[in-house]
Amino acid sequence: MDEKLGTILLTGGLGQLGYFTYLKLKHQYNICIVDDLSNAKVEPPEDVQFIKKRLPDEEIFEKLPDIDFIIHLAAQISIKKSIEKPIYDAQSNIYGTLALLEYARKQNVKKFIYISSAGTFGNPQYLPVDENHPRNPISPYGLSKLVGENYVKMYNDLYGLNTVSLIPFNFYSPLQNENDPYAGVIFKFLTAVKRDSNLTIFGDGRQTRDFINVKDVARALELALIKKTSSKTFNIGSGKATSIVDLADMILQISNKNLDITFQPAIKGEIKESYCSIEKAEIELDFSPKISLHDGLKDMYEKIIL
Ligand SMILES: NC(=O)c1ccc[n+]([C@@H]2O[C@H](COP(=O)([O-])OP(=O)(O)OC[C@H]3O[C@@H](n4cnc5c(N)ncnc54)[C@H](O)[C@@H]3O)[C@@H](O)[C@H]2O)c1
Repeated sequence: MDEKLGTILLTGGLGQLGYFTYLKLKHQYNICIVDDLSNAKVEPPEDVQFIKKRLPDEEIFEKLPDIDFIIHLAAQISIKKSIEKPIYDAQSNIYGTLALLEYARKQNVKKFIYISSAGTFGNPQYLPVDENHPRNPISPYGLSKLVGENYVKMYNDLYGLNTVSLIPFNFYSPLQNENDPYAGVIFKFLTAVKRDSNLTIFGDGRQTRDFINVKDVARALELALIKKTSSKTFNIGSGKATSIVDLADMILQISNKNLDITFQPAIKGEIKESYCSIEKAEIELDFSPKISLHDGLKDMYEKIIL
């Protein structure tokens, strides 16, 4: 076996981002995955140590090998579920994060990387949203991800734990499915087109989002792991605003199908415009997205299975 650079504990490693992060890092690191299978997209790979447990279950920590780095992706990710069951959400996202931080502190883990969420910002007060934008989450999910992020920062301040937090905007991948709470507009448009159905847009279609391919987010995680940066928070997105009507046009063009776009009344409370500044990640992590939205959508369109 090749010499590895250490062992990573990858929580949520069977989810959408987790699986692409595993693919990115598996050649250089030993990987141990903790996942409770509550929203898993893949089977546990054969070359990882897999622990099927739900954070913050303390038994997890008895089963772990020596861990050098933690990449913490496991989370309850449904906004709807967080509104229906806020305690369930907090158990995974707040206590789950805190239990891992405690483990990391006691074991002198070399680096702890946390994935936060654009949902911690709430409705944008200015654009592009940068890391200093006020945080006003509007769901228990947004709040629990923010509390997790604040705990991560506090463990750096209080205990000197080496930490980095990334705040991804909307990422997409062929691993999304219909039950996925994050399977937003991209998945819906692609599956509609595959079924030869017209595309439905709620509102005038001029609302914007910042879409980024999951492989670019996995690369940002690798940069956060290897760069000598600590106690920092970075937005991760494309840095570009894409309107929903432009997204629909792009998908129709990729599919080469002659389908229509229909418009329905806007969804109440929906955020009108959102995109982020990635300047900080560009300067300090050397990060820039490599996969264009067109290429990422084309790949997803070809891979998506109904
Ligand atoms: N998808 C997005 O656009 C997006 C945007 C911003 C932030 N995020 C964050 O990125 C991370 C990964 O998101 P994803 O889209 O890959 O989600 P996902 O649901 O596909 O992956 C999460 C994985 O964690 C597991 N899991 C959930 N709760 C757990 C627990 N308590 N203990 C152990 N395992 C648990 C699930 O089974 C799943 O395999 C999450 O932390 C999410 O908050 C996602």
